[in-house]
Amino acid sequence: MPARTARLLACAFAFFVFAAVHASAGPASTPPPDQIDDEKVNARVAALLKQMTLEEKIGQLSQQFVFGKPDEVEDAVARGQLGSLLFITDPAVINQLQHVAVEKTRLHIPLIFGFDVIHGFRTIFPVPIGMAASWDPLVEEKGQTIAAQEASAVGINWAFAPMLDIARDPRWGRMVEGAGEDPYLGSAMAAAQVRGFQGPYIGSPEHILACMKHFAGYGAAEGGRDYDASYIPEDQMWNVYLPPFHAAVKAGVGSAMSAYMDLNDVPATGNSWLLEDVLRKDWGFKGFVVSDADAVKNLKTHGYAKDLSGAAVLGLTAGVDMEMSQGPTAYSRGLAAAVASGKVTVQQIDEAAARILAAKIRLGLFEHPYVDEARAKQILATPEHRVASRDAAERSAVLLRNEGHLLPLKPSAYHSIAVLGPTADSQHDTLGSWTFQQDMAETVTVFNGIRSKAGSGTQVSYAPGVQIKRMIPSMFDVIFHEPPVAPWGTDQGAAEMQKAVDLAKNSDLTILVLGEAQNMSGERASRESLELPGQEQQLLEGVVATGKPVVLVLMNGRPLNITWASTHVPAILEAWYPGTQGGNAVANLLFGDVVPGGKLPFSWPRDVGQIPINYAHNTTFQPEEQARRYWDEESTPLYPFGYGLSYSTFSFSNVKVSQSSVRVGQSLEVTADVENTGDISADEVAQLYIHQQYGSTSRPVRELKGFSRVTLAAHQKTTVRFPLTPDDLRYWSTATRGWVQDPSDFDVWVGPDSRAELHASFTVTP
Ligand code: BGC
Repeated sequence: MPARTARLLACAFAFFVFAAVHASAGPASTPPPDQIDDEKVNARVAALLKQMTLEEKIGQLSQQFVFGKPDEVEDAVARGQLGSLLFITDPAVINQLQHVAVEKTRLHIPLIFGFDVIHGFRTIFPVPIGMAASWDPLVEEKGQTIAAQEASAVGINWAFAPMLDIARDPRWGRMVEGAGEDPYLGSAMAAAQVRGFQGPYIGSPEHILACMKHFAGYGAAEGGRDYDASYIPEDQMWNVYLPPFHAAVKAGVGSAMSAYMDLNDVPATGNSWLLEDVLRKDWGFKGFVVSDADAVKNLKTHGYAKDLSGAAVLGLTAGVDMEMSQGPTAYSRGLAAAVASGKVTVQQIDEAAARILAAKIRLGLFEHPYVDEARAKQILATPEHRVASRDAAERSAVLLRNEGHLLPLKPSAYHSIAVLGPTADSQHDTLGSWTFQQDMAETVTVFNGIRSKAGSGTQVSYAPGVQIKRMIPSMFDVIFHEPPVAPWGTDQGAAEMQKAVDLAKNSDLTILVLGEAQNMSGERASRESLELPGQEQQLLEGVVATGKPVVLVLMNGRPLNITWASTHVPAILEAWYPGTQGGNAVANLLFGDVVPGGKLPFSWPRDVGQIPINYAHNTTFQPEEQARRYWDEESTPLYPFGYGLSYSTFSFSNVKVSQSSVRVGQSLEVTADVENTGDISADEVAQLYIHQQYGSTSRPVRELKGFSRVTLAAHQKTTVRFPLTPDDLRYWSTATRGWVQDPSDFDVWVGPDSRAELHASFTVTP
């Protein structure tokens, strides 16, 4: 045996023994004080820092992508030049690289492995905008708990989620990754996700570190163009864009990711106001900040830093502790010299390294650096995870229209069903963006879900009808070398369209699935139009012209122009990208095994020209003319924020405020009755909106301040209760440049969406 091979084998053997011993020790079930007690953690950090060279400290601040070639980073890990890696999902490779960090570096400091665990790992849940449409923080928490369990089973310690960017411009492709337009709903979903990922404390068994992103203001990119600059007035920043991040900090989020773009001309990744003044000083955030990918190097591209060394200095001194990078970091190349020249102090490096080391200690990585590869397989195959995913998809769906009670479908009424549309039988499109480790084979498409639900007595046929394609390939198609789909020629296109329309003509019912392919929504997936892509609109009109009943199922991550459909198609169900069990969920919803109860987390525009059209706008001049703000289009959205129908009906009554007058600083309670007036059990989301009539600045016509998703049996009535605290009534005022709670008169509405009519009022006195 050649000496090199013998050495490798010996090394491999030693590693496996080591990995087995450590993995079998398993995670501890009670919080170990060494990992959670602040004083003990700080003492461990200080002891480590004392022994570390400057290079070793800078190594901890560097994170690098690994796209399938672990050998490329192995030497750098062995030299202590990398503190974290991302994009590795194979537990064997994670163990292999962790072994290098733990065994070959001088101080045995483990790596922290990060990954984009956005809406599931092996089991894929609905995309985040869909999860938000459930208006059910518990379902969101459960989804991320399962995602954390699956990701941690392969050795991932850290999720680059939740994404908390408020999005009021659906041209922006990343709207799919967040909770929509509203800070209150966004904050509830933010906290739920942090709890799901991290569990009761950082380092909880089978949980991982969460990373709130992208701090902050990314969703306001000019023109909805991904990565373009954001210009956000101070009051909008505090009242709209920052609250979900603050909610995540209050929920104990352990890390934050700085955003790519310029915020009011200062790049977010070099923005000490954001990272130091707001995040650390004002909110008391104790975790660490990682940059978005290559965002530190891009401080030079932005025209902010002079060169790469300058970028490293600006990033670190603004508060970015760890630099995420493709290839060697600017930190590894520039920080040592910056210390030598006095541009950065050793103390600043120590503070950044300390925050990262503290996270590694809290996660228990020093005690349990390795993962049990055999156990990973079991966890990833857990059947309950698929059930939870189906439940989430069912709770996320929003019924937009149901004329003549076409839904729920009666199985016996249809002998033949046509399932049409380009994404109706596509597993990848059913999952949505940011899915890499899913089990594609087990993903249920709408076609397959309908087929198994309809049973053998009904013939279910499929035709795509049209092909949809981006003009330029998506970022992920390029990274993962997705082979381009061969385009249909004109003749084939016409023939496929005809085939689909004929199928509709010859079937008793058509379920038409339209929307966007998964790669049309997400990062670098912005659009200037919201039209249905390709020839989907023509397919829709052709199918409707057959005169046969049509149900439109939408799979998308943003509102699209369905204004024609909203008056011509009897039933429309928004399914989002529903995940692993999407097809089964859609079938259960359409056939009435489950009653839709989701609500829109954004206002649905009639056309792209209405953007932005968020419900929480100000009254301003001539409010009675609000509906006539355009002369060529109505000024109202097609569907309002919070909207969604049910197969049942509900009525709201008896709204009360606990006190008609309170003092500044006092709380009150709003209650109302909700009754299921139909004959089946169903869910309703009771929503509370307020309006401050006057004060130090104008306030929005309505603001969501409470919601509650309730399940009511047929004819059951319940009382929903909403506390209103001083925090709910205060806001950041441009007039005083600070937080205020004004004495004022307030309107209150409770109802099924943002047009709620049931009204009460109260007064706040000084
Ligand atoms: C995205 C982040 C993501 C990171 C790592 C970036 O391009 O903006 O959201 O976490 O890549 O994949």
